[in-house]
Amino acid sequence: MKNLHVVEHPLIKHKLSIMRNKDTGPKEFRELLNEITLLLTYEASRKLPLNEYDVETPIQKTTGYAVDDKKITIVPILRAGLGMLDGIMELVPNASVGFLGLFRDPKTLEPVEYYSKFPEFTENHHIYIIDPMLATGHSMNAAIEIVKKNNGKNITVMSLISSPEGVKEVLDKYPDIEIYTAALDEKLNDKAYIIPGLGDAGDRLFRTK
Ligand code: URA
Repeated sequence: MKNLHVVEHPLIKHKLSIMRNKDTGPKEFRELLNEITLLLTYEASRKLPLNEYDVETPIQKTTGYAVDDKKITIVPILRAGLGMLDGIMELVPNASVGFLGLFRDPKTLEPVEYYSKFPEFTENHHIYIIDPMLATGHSMNAAIEIVKKNNGKNITVMSLISSPEGVKEVLDKYPDIEIYTAALDEKLNDKAYIIPGLGDAGDRLFRTK
């Protein structure tokens, strides 16, 4: 599928398999999510623009290249998205962070915004919306809509595990957006969990169950 990038790498497969294991505890789970996010960021940042500048090596002058990470904003969807924040910030330490809290309305089952705080998005800003589990795609679509309403452009989605249903939902509505994910799993079950997945990413990160 165009604009879906499943980042295939032996290290990612190895680390994700440990995360899937129900006996892996929160410390190791957080560390592995951090490491995989770092590897995903390497791929998801390939198209970032570079500014040229002069560098003097001990031998001669040459051209240096700089990513303007002040023009990057990371938007974790609360709360599980926080688990991917450190991994991406390690590579773009001057990026700004926007926060977005969504909950699911128990009646309509639709995502509702309960908190948002974004920096000002400039014309050439690049925005990464992060959430480990791209399940139904409803929260991600709500997040994209909210970021767009706040003037956000150049949006990339990063997730750890995606479902085919979630990917379709996002790309049908926003065909210009690119999704980077470590795995495309089989499907959703009747409780909207990804299978085989890894369970509830928020609970496993923060030991809330
Ligand atoms: N959210 C999760 O944490 N896990 C799933 O499988 C689906 C949504």
